[in-house]
Amino acid sequence: MSNNVKLYLAPMEGVVDWTMRRLLTRIGGIDQCVTEFLRVTDLVYPTHIFYKNCPELHTQSKTESGTPVFLQLLGGQAEPMALNAIRAVELGACGIDINFGCPAKTVNRHDGGAAILKSCHRVFDITQAVRNAVPKHIPVTVKIRLGYDNPESCIENSLAIQQAGANRLTVHCRTKTNGYTPPAYWEWIPRIKEQVSIPIVANGEIWNIDDFKKCLKETECEHFMIGRGALANPFIFKQIKNFSDQNNWKNLIPDFYDMSSDYRGPRFAMIRTKQWMRSIAFKDDEALNIFNQIKTIEIPELFRSKIQDLNQI
Ligand SMILES: Cc1cc2nc3c(=O)[nH]c(=O)nc-3n(C[C@H](O)[C@H](O)[C@H](O)COP(=O)(O)O)c2cc1C
Repeated sequence: MSNNVKLYLAPMEGVVDWTMRRLLTRIGGIDQCVTEFLRVTDLVYPTHIFYKNCPELHTQSKTESGTPVFLQLLGGQAEPMALNAIRAVELGACGIDINFGCPAKTVNRHDGGAAILKSCHRVFDITQAVRNAVPKHIPVTVKIRLGYDNPESCIENSLAIQQAGANRLTVHCRTKTNGYTPPAYWEWIPRIKEQVSIPIVANGEIWNIDDFKKCLKETECEHFMIGRGALANPFIFKQIKNFSDQNNWKNLIPDFYDMSSDYRGPRFAMIRTKQWMRSIAFKDDEALNIFNQIKTIEIPELFRSKIQDLNQI
């Protein structure tokens, strides 16, 4: 594998929060994270909202283990997007990521996320406004799907994004209409790479080393973003980089609960820990068995004592 391979932890609203970024980057192998999206309407958010979205702003825009975190903005109006980007950078964000990929109905109805992909002019305008608003040394990256309903639009949108001055483009290889239904159409990446020269990050359906190798071969990318595969297997980044097959996820669960509890309290910690264990159980029968035994526990203290040693369950 090339030494130039860069791995990114995917932004996941309601899942990959400060605690999850902290825990996963501690394991190693992740080159950069992105926050959950901050939805921009016509306001510039007050400071505390930026800190809530990206607590890492308190620590030089890096996780505890030193991994940079870009702040993600989602919105359909160029000027407020630019103004919020400026504010984020003033508060210390080391990079801004623009979300043109969100498929959620409420977001799309309010003119944001993947809905913008219907017009490459709008994609250009928003990207350019953000790029021009923040200092040159601050990277502005963009995340798209292949299109709203037409995958071919990825070419003109990628060209617009490059022309607008973005530093990197992540492609979730599905249209909005495809939702999250497999497969991811990695075959579009080489077509995009024929047209644009900024770094392209391949994203979608990398769950294990075999998927990674297939994606590498098919896309010839050096940059990859992993979301659900990282929740199912928190060691995937390390495995890709070191070719190790370690996956002792059970030891991580009590730590994750405690970190989440410090962050937002025991009930939040219980909900998020169950949510994460469900993701692990998705691809792991032993985890499913354990999850089934603890999922109905409603009292955080009882839940915490149950997960203390998952090897005993
Ligand atoms: C629950 C959930 C929340 C997500 N939130 C975001 C988000 O806030 N910003 C974003 O750009 N993408 C978001 N995504 C999309 C992921 O970043 C990623 O593109 C997608 O899951 C495909 O990658 P994967 O197959 O590796 O999971 C979300 C996906 C899921 C499943």
